[in-house]
Formats: sequence, C-alpha cells, structure tokens
Amino acid sequence: MTAYVDATTAPMKNTGAIKLYNEADFAGMRAASQITAACLDALAELIKPGVTTQEIDDFVVEFGRKHNAIPATLNYRGFTKSCCTSINHVVCHGIPNEKPLREGEIVNVDVTYVLDGWHGDSSRMYAVGAIKRAAERLIEVTYKSLELGIEAVKPGNHTGDIGHAIQTYAEAERCSVVREFCGHGVGKLFHDAPNILHYGRPGEGVELRPGMIFTIEPMINLGRPAVKVLSDGWTAVTRDRSLTAQFEHSVGVTETGCEIFTSSPAGYTLPPYA
Ligand code: MF3
Ligand code: CO
Ligand code: CO
Repeated sequence: MTAYVDATTAPMKNTGAIKLYNEADFAGMRAASQITAACLDALAELIKPGVTTQEIDDFVVEFGRKHNAIPATLNYRGFTKSCCTSINHVVCHGIPNEKPLREGEIVNVDVTYVLDGWHGDSSRMYAVGAIKRAAERLIEVTYKSLELGIEAVKPGNHTGDIGHAIQTYAEAERCSVVREFCGHGVGKLFHDAPNILHYGRPGEGVELRPGMIFTIEPMINLGRPAVKVLSDGWTAVTRDRSLTAQFEHSVGVTETGCEIFTSSPAGYTLPPYA
C-alpha cells in the first residue's frame, strides 16, 4: 500500500511516504527550477571546444550566487562540485575537472539549485562543436523519451506508465535504458520517494496524484544497458563504453497532467541551442 501524506505536516525526511504539495509549494519549486533552467540556457554559450568542465562548475557557482541559489550537489554525500558533467560514455555523476572539452564530444550538465529550501533539478545534453550523426541521433532519442515520459504524467496513471513510455520508444529506436539510476521525488529534499524508473509496464508502481513532485531523467545508451561506477565512487560509465545521453526535468502532477518546473526560459529543446 502506498502512503500519501500532506507535505506541509509530514516529517521532512524520506520515510517512503509520498508527499503531496500545495499551490504555494508548487510556486517554490517553480522559482528554484527556473533558476536552474536559466543556468542551463546560459551554459549553451559557454560550452565549446577548449572549455573545461571546471569552468562549467565555476559558472554554476557564480550563477547561483547572483540568484541567491545554492548548488545542492556541493558536499552532497561527499560530492565536491556544484554540478555533474558527464561526457560521451559517462552515464551520470561525472565530476568536473581541468580537462578541456574536445570538438565532437557530447556532455550532460546536471544542475540542482536550492532556493528557499526548494530543489530545482534538471539536466541537458550539449554538443561540443560539430558532433557525429550517431551522437545527434542518441540525443534526439533521449530528449524524445523524456517528452514521452512526461506525457504519461497525469492523475490515475502510474509510475510504470512513465517508464513504459520511455522504454518502449528508446528500445524501438535500438537504444537501451539504464536501470541502475532513476528519477526521484524532489522538493524540500533532494532525493525523496517515489523512485521513477525509466522502464516498466503500464499500471505498475505508484498511482500518480495531483500534488506529487518528482524528476524524470532517462539515461539512454547506444549500446548495452549495463553500467559501472569508477573508483572515484561517482563516475558511472557504460560497461561497453558506448555513447550515452540524459535529459532531466522536475515536474509536478496537476489535475489534468503536469507542470514542467524546469522548462527552458529561452525555449531551448535540442542542441545546438542557438
Ligand atoms: N542531480 C542528480 C540527480 O538528478 C544527482 C546528483 S548527486 C551528486 O538526481 F552528488 F552526484 F551530485
Ligand atoms: Co535528479
Ligand atoms: Co539532476
């Protein structure tokens, strides 16, 4: 049995119960998420050959400072950077460093700002200069899989409908879905119940109700689905070193569907974001 609780009176910690948020909470999520989305928009101009992922991280710190928002990943469970930068076969949780980006690479930047206690969690893919058609196609498939997952978000549907929509499409495109990482409840907590799997069957999992807030963040591979985590304890890579991509939005369930909190203020969809 799934327990749904009023987020206003529920204990802040992740008890496994699913918090239902009110309109004021949605406004808080909207505000935090729009800073995240504006940062991801602004990064489009910065990301090019020669730029280091540390410079991306520095930008995220400075953008946050200007907007009074705090990067949630900084010192989160020992993570020492203000965003994740995941290049080519890195699935997620790549750690920014001093190595310059090279023409033809693809990179996911994952940013979570905290504003007034609310976490706006989103990520996008960026192309470093000109990229190969296979990379471009993977990015398109991953973006579309997130869109299809979001279309499945409405009251009465289940979390399994989201995963099923993503998996069915991605696999029909001869890509694979990463199983080891999932979307998550988000709000005053960075990672909360429920888990949002990016694979599954219709009607499985938790029933969606108005007021739920969570992320959808499919990681899609050109090759096999298997991943491993490197010895730094964070960097997840495809075992077959195939190219991988991810997009992430934070969404809230409404009476009729959902609100995408982290939608791009500039209206950006796919790279190149010009
Ligand atoms: N933002 C990531 C997510 O989508 C989590 C990053 S945690 C970190 O859930 F510690 F790796 F930064
Ligand atoms: Co997330
Ligand atoms: Co994220």
